[in-house]
Amino acid sequence: MKSLHNYIIPVLALALAACSQSGSQTDDIEKKIDHLLSQMTLEEKIGQLHQITSMGTLEDMCAQAKDGTIGSILNEIDPERINQIQCAAVEESRLGIPLLIARDVIHGYKTMFPIPLGQAATFDPAIVEEGARVSAAEASADGIRWTFSPMLDVARDPRWGRIAEGSGEDPYLTSVMGAAMVKGYQGTDLSNPASIAACAKHFVGYGAAEAGKDYNSTNIPMGQMRNVYLPPFLAAKEAGMQTFMSSFNDNDGIPATGNRWLLTDLLRDEWGFDGFVVTDWNSAGEMLNHGFCADMAEVAEKSMNAGIDMDMMAFAYTSQLADLLKAGKVKQSQIDNAVRNVLRVKYRLGLFENPYIDLSLRDSVMYAPTHLAAAKKAATESAVLLKNDKQVLPLSQNVKRVAVVGPMADAPQDQLGTWTFDGEKEKTITPLAALRQLEGVTVNYAPGVAYSRDRRTDGIAKAVAAARQSDVVLAFLGEEAILSGEAHSLADLNLQGAQRQLVAELAKTGKPLVLVVMAGRPLTIGDEVDKADAVMYMFHPGTMGGPAIADLLWGAANPSGKLPVTFPKMVGQVPVYYAHNNTGRPAYGTETLLHDIPLEAAQTSLGNTSYHLDAGFHPLFPFGYGLSYTTFEYGQPQLSASTLGEKDTLTVECQLTNTGRYEGTEVAQLYVRDHHGSVARPVKELKRFQRVSLQPGETKTVTFELPVEDLAFYGADLTKKVEPGQFSLWVSGDSQSGQPTAFAVE
Ligand code: NOJ
Repeated sequence: MKSLHNYIIPVLALALAACSQSGSQTDDIEKKIDHLLSQMTLEEKIGQLHQITSMGTLEDMCAQAKDGTIGSILNEIDPERINQIQCAAVEESRLGIPLLIARDVIHGYKTMFPIPLGQAATFDPAIVEEGARVSAAEASADGIRWTFSPMLDVARDPRWGRIAEGSGEDPYLTSVMGAAMVKGYQGTDLSNPASIAACAKHFVGYGAAEAGKDYNSTNIPMGQMRNVYLPPFLAAKEAGMQTFMSSFNDNDGIPATGNRWLLTDLLRDEWGFDGFVVTDWNSAGEMLNHGFCADMAEVAEKSMNAGIDMDMMAFAYTSQLADLLKAGKVKQSQIDNAVRNVLRVKYRLGLFENPYIDLSLRDSVMYAPTHLAAAKKAATESAVLLKNDKQVLPLSQNVKRVAVVGPMADAPQDQLGTWTFDGEKEKTITPLAALRQLEGVTVNYAPGVAYSRDRRTDGIAKAVAAARQSDVVLAFLGEEAILSGEAHSLADLNLQGAQRQLVAELAKTGKPLVLVVMAGRPLTIGDEVDKADAVMYMFHPGTMGGPAIADLLWGAANPSGKLPVTFPKMVGQVPVYYAHNNTGRPAYGTETLLHDIPLEAAQTSLGNTSYHLDAGFHPLFPFGYGLSYTTFEYGQPQLSASTLGEKDTLTVECQLTNTGRYEGTEVAQLYVRDHHGSVARPVKELKRFQRVSLQPGETKTVTFELPVEDLAFYGADLTKKVEPGQFSLWVSGDSQSGQPTAFAVE
């Protein structure tokens, strides 16, 4: 093995890194790949298609790298070891092909940003892009050049633990946030050693798991697939996405990893994707469990024929491809093509020129002050104010004694959220720590319950006593990080443990009660909202959650987040989402509820509309909802034309006024309804949004440009087009308010 001084990256090579790929660079890369392919043995080719997790001894991995029998390693994060394994690949293997080192860097590497659902609540693609850029800088300083992010799964069921990892229920919001992440990770120059390749996952439909149970089957019909689940992936591809990951689920009986229509006809032929496709962890092997393949040979055959380039941890290609080739079940050209796709991304990443990590960078990059500042900004913008009766927030300067209670007040690991592999709880600033820094404020800390699932009630009396001695009660509730994320689905979305009891007892004190809820998903907190004076929802906010919360509570910052997902009143309402179809009997008028039904009532189609008798028409909080300490008033939108052609662009102008006492930022949302179509259309669809900052009393004109082609959808014939007709348009602060303005497309 070489000594480490050989690994220092020549500064000149960095400076020469190209800004973007020109046509000649592309040709150049393809020529280099041709040249390499012409020299590769079958074993070396199959090696490029094989990804292992960091396993065995360092010597084992170096030996495999030297033999050219692996193309990528995930979960190796020791930079010195990475340099050594890379050295074996680059300097000791026959052809010197570098390895691609991968990791799940989902919402930060060391500096943890809010979980992706929280980032989506910012409705701020710029901060999301910055977060991904920070993640790339930190991860690459440890040698990681490929992240399995963003998760682009539209998720309409909060029971599904992985709702935490995406941007919520809306295809447009998910598309915008996903594209922002791709730009952040990959930068303007993928060959910059501080850029990392992104991965669009999970392709596709994984978020529609039946009953919100992870890994469960999905049954998404093609119209919904095209109109709801696929658009974020296409947007990511258009943003330059380098890799896609096939999902675990079977849709209508076909596991994604074996779905040729998805991975070849659509992704390659229709969309023109030229990066590579990796399986999810052993998702190829799991085709045996699905009952879609009889043995590993069939697994490898179906994967290759579907369009899988790289196998993550099923060992299907290494164990089967050579025999399949001999038997004529896969073609040499298919294998070559898959290798070409993998090598193309390696070239674009500049790995052939700069395979090693500059170990001197690490200390100045991790937790850099600018990274922490960006994480704090993201956490601040992610806060959604759900209730603020009598303007209890922001807390007045007269508040001198605060009771700090609840299991999330000082839970440094849990506030980081799911997929925190590398962020350290020692670096987390909790709300308790941040509040204790405030001058002139006495903190009476009594958690009441020790952790979110804690069912013991013996600590509640102390929390109540702290409340009685204080001017205000700040209750930090929610769920531990481990209750959401992969394989952590729930059937009950109430606050866990004795938290509900804690809130009930605190409410009885009559002290102003402020709830700060930190969770990985929407929780059914209706009762607690009723009991509290103010409620601020933070999806797990990351390293800087504490200082962000302190600023928000005392008014140094004003909440501006909006819900990226509908909050149900009770689990039985899910899936509940704003962009539902109207149905033949839409809910309207008076709600007849369960207890309104007379005894022994005669059989009737009571109310005649589509809703639950025990939940009524509405969710707890709608998509897009979020208050501010100030108030905003929307004018009626002015449209550039009331009738448009298919090639026109509609300009929408709307006056937005800050009618309250504080400076604030509002997320103005533009929704459209297409009244009739060849298929039934959603009652509303988000088409644009904009964060607008206003001083008290200030009015701004918010302008949106909406090309009519953005109203196109896949109709009855499954082609995408604009169907002429009547439309309604709203500009409002959430998905349920505002008055419609009509226009037509001819
Ligand atoms: C399984 C998860 O589904 C996927 O999101 C992740 O990237 C891989 N494991 C690798 O850790």
